[in-house]
Amino acid sequence: MSLPVRLLAPSLLSADFAHLARDMARVEAYSGMMHVDVMDGHFVPNITLGPPVVQCLKAATSLPLDCHLMIENPGRYLKAFAKAGATYLSVHQEACPHLHRTVQGIREEGMRPGVAINPATPVDSLEVILPDLDFVLVMSVNPGFGGQKFLPASLEKISKLRKMAQARGLDLAVQVDGGVTRETLPALLDAGAHWFVAGSAIFGAPDPTAAAKELADMMGFRRS
Ligand code: DX5
Ligand code: ZN
Repeated sequence: MSLPVRLLAPSLLSADFAHLARDMARVEAYSGMMHVDVMDGHFVPNITLGPPVVQCLKAATSLPLDCHLMIENPGRYLKAFAKAGATYLSVHQEACPHLHRTVQGIREEGMRPGVAINPATPVDSLEVILPDLDFVLVMSVNPGFGGQKFLPASLEKISKLRKMAQARGLDLAVQVDGGVTRETLPALLDAGAHWFVAGSAIFGAPDPTAAAKELADMMGFRRS
């Protein structure tokens, strides 16, 4: 896969945690990566999973794993996630006082680095780090839970990031996470996002395969 291409990244947060392999298999044909939400109960109120589960997911899918760390001190866990099999790893700007060091650490561990920003964090805060990143994750809800309402202010952040990357000649992918549905997708495509994380719109649907296919079709994504 070359960067950046439009793709669907199903978020396993809304899948059945007792049947993750089954749920991944249902959507794999329409997905470019699997999005794994790691929450610690400190940076966000919710608690989910860690490297041992990521290692099991890695064995159960051929797709790259995209781990979104919503945790404090993410730098402490880079080695563990690399060992577990993460391909893409994003850390939150708000959780990293030494963001440059953390991003370098992700690359040194052989993963592709991304930085996630909360709804209230401006894209300008990434100006200096942008050339070191493979992707930026724009949160279009407050992190911590699936099924929240899309915040439209993220659209302007996405187009601004695209412009910043273009002006610098960077191969940066812009990922959007939160409230991605068939209703919000057209505006996100217009804004120029590349990677679309969707949880409840897929795994909350009666037929997750059909839901993933519909979203992938809308973004013109095909597995090659
Ligand atoms: C929220 C997570 C998302 C979540 C999105 O903090 O980062 O990945 O699964 O869920 P939906 O698509 O339901 O908004
Ligand atoms: Zn996420």
